[in-house]
Amino acid sequence: MRLRLGVNIDHVATIRNARGGDHPDPVRAARIAAEAGADGITAHLREDRRHITDGDIDRLMAEIDLPLNLEMAATEEMLEIALAHRPHAACIVPERREERTTEGGLDAAGQHNHLAYFVDKLGSANIRVSLFIEPTEEQVAAAVRLGAPVVEFHTGRYAHSEGEERTAELRRIADCAALAVKNGIEPHAGHGLTFDNVVPVAAIPQIAELNIGHFLIGEAIFTGLEASVRRMRELMNEARG
Ligand code: PXP
Repeated sequence: MRLRLGVNIDHVATIRNARGGDHPDPVRAARIAAEAGADGITAHLREDRRHITDGDIDRLMAEIDLPLNLEMAATEEMLEIALAHRPHAACIVPERREERTTEGGLDAAGQHNHLAYFVDKLGSANIRVSLFIEPTEEQVAAAVRLGAPVVEFHTGRYAHSEGEERTAELRRIADCAALAVKNGIEPHAGHGLTFDNVVPVAAIPQIAELNIGHFLIGEAIFTGLEASVRRMRELMNEARG
């Protein structure tokens, strides 16, 4: 199975928004990522619109051929936007206004009733729903109960730990990926992945997709976006042998 790479272009918009105006353009970044081997484009439309804007989503849908994975909080506002655009996929993420980035996964277990409504509405519109969760059995079981076709494991703890803690977290991701597949759920992973830490995650055979953003956009400052995405693609291919 080919491991897909979703390139998250949020932080191209972060740089643009630092000065207002329209440069650098995240849609141009999506085009370059597509040429460099991305299989999909990921964008998080936040409530505060701190990076991606509604206009970016309009243009990504209209101008980019790759499937769009819309990351969204489970709110009526975001549901309405997703249903209006019908992206290929929607990844439901937890969102706190004051956080710098998505810190931790959804509590799919504790929020069953709230999430069930969104999983159902998005799924009925033929949008592939994914739940961004921590790699724990409890969260996978909750995703099964919710009938989500996809889960994305939050790799932040793996990325930000070292030594035995990292090894243990990697094992949790691998075990949960196997558990997800056993229950008919496609596992994805993302958050904090870099050239230095991507290979062990990419080598987990059940994982179907990685979503990577901040590192790729940061690296693009030094080597260009095309080279940055190509190198990530190479590492992922090597990990799969
Ligand atoms: N996947 C999800 C669901 C995310 O919310 C994010 C961004 O926080 C990513 C992947 C990409 O993470 P990063 O920008 O750290 O590569």
